Amino acid sequence: MVDGYHKLTRKRQLELLAQRTNVDLSKLTKLAVDSIHQHQIENYLTDFNLPEGIAVNLEVNGRSYFVPMVTEEPSVIAAASNGAKIVQRAGGFTAHSTRLMVGQVLVSGTDLALVKNYVEKQKQHLVEIANAAHPSMQARGGGAQSLQVRELDEDKLSIDLIVDTREAMGANTVNSMVEAVKRELLANQINVDMAILSNLADHALTEATCQIPVELLGEEVAEKISLASEYAQVDPYRATTHNKGIMNGIDAVVMATGNDWRAIESGAHAYAARSGQYRGLSTWNVVDGMLVGKIVLPLPVATVGGSIGINAQAQMNLKIMQIQNAKQLAEVIASIGLAQNLAALRAIVSEGIQQGHMRLQAKSLLIEHGVAETDLEVAVNMLVQAERIDSKNAQKIIEQLRKKDTDE
Ligand code: MEV
Repeated sequence: MVDGYHKLTRKRQLELLAQRTNVDLSKLTKLAVDSIHQHQIENYLTDFNLPEGIAVNLEVNGRSYFVPMVTEEPSVIAAASNGAKIVQRAGGFTAHSTRLMVGQVLVSGTDLALVKNYVEKQKQHLVEIANAAHPSMQARGGGAQSLQVRELDEDKLSIDLIVDTREAMGANTVNSMVEAVKRELLANQINVDMAILSNLADHALTEATCQIPVELLGEEVAEKISLASEYAQVDPYRATTHNKGIMNGIDAVVMATGNDWRAIESGAHAYAARSGQYRGLSTWNVVDGMLVGKIVLPLPVATVGGSIGINAQAQMNLKIMQIQNAKQLAEVIASIGLAQNLAALRAIVSEGIQQGHMRLQAKSLLIEHGVAETDLEVAVNMLVQAERIDSKNAQKIIEQLRKKDTDE
């Protein structure tokens, strides 16, 4: 049991941690001193670094983008650029989005018909109460817009508040609003159990589409990509992996722009299961000589608010993309997800995913086993030609090159 850890000075926290875990934390002390992150979370230890790279050739609604992506998976950025390049040759992605958030006031009881009646009658008043809880949102042209009642079962209902949060994701705004509605209902003897934003952001949907002439991919590959997308519609096992590939691209940009990737993940997967069965978020069909790709998912991303404002790297990444507003950001992100999906499916239905990833896998393995940076290129060439790309061969090659380096 550790009591009051958050009240200790940083020095004491580190001492206690080192003492209890036997881990040498001396390197962390220097690293963490200047980090803005120490004010962002509780019990801050250090910064956890991940690689950031740029995907190129993504064209959305006639504009070309350099897309910053944060990911630890070696093949993701190469695949995104590859998929984007194919689509760029075919005229790029077309995307559009809606952007409203949903907050829930959850009510239970036996007299729900009365509650429903009351809410319907007081709709306008309750929306006004919500707006009064966060007046600056209306001043910015947004705010609570409407309210609807959904019956959940015989003794529960959800009062859904629909809010335009402008450029922010708006979790805090929506939460303040639904809590104000909750107080008003409680004051009128209505049994409210809780009030909170919903991450099933199905009023903030983004759609991206593309049309690729089949000859760009080859007719057989195009047909097989379409078949691969059918599997993701009928089999949750395949759908999960299909969507994982899409989220490889989506999460990487969501993270690079300082957005809440847990919100995006949970919303995406809930949306994928909206029919009652978990399905692929994208579809690919061959129509009149074109491979037509389409993705739709909730993408309530933001360009301001949350941690975005204090994250200098997120700010820089938004500038690299030359993003003007949150809708545009969502459209770029949906498109990168579809590009990522195209590259993955194309590899899987043709040479297989391993073949395309061989060099990247070899590189990761060699780095893991401590290859000298100067030997890396040669070592990768040797490892991809080895009988198997595995730790044993990686170590053997590193040893050989090390020996050669010392002999020279
Ligand atoms: C690997 O991170 C993602 C893929 O498995 C996606 C897919 O199978 O569609 C390649």
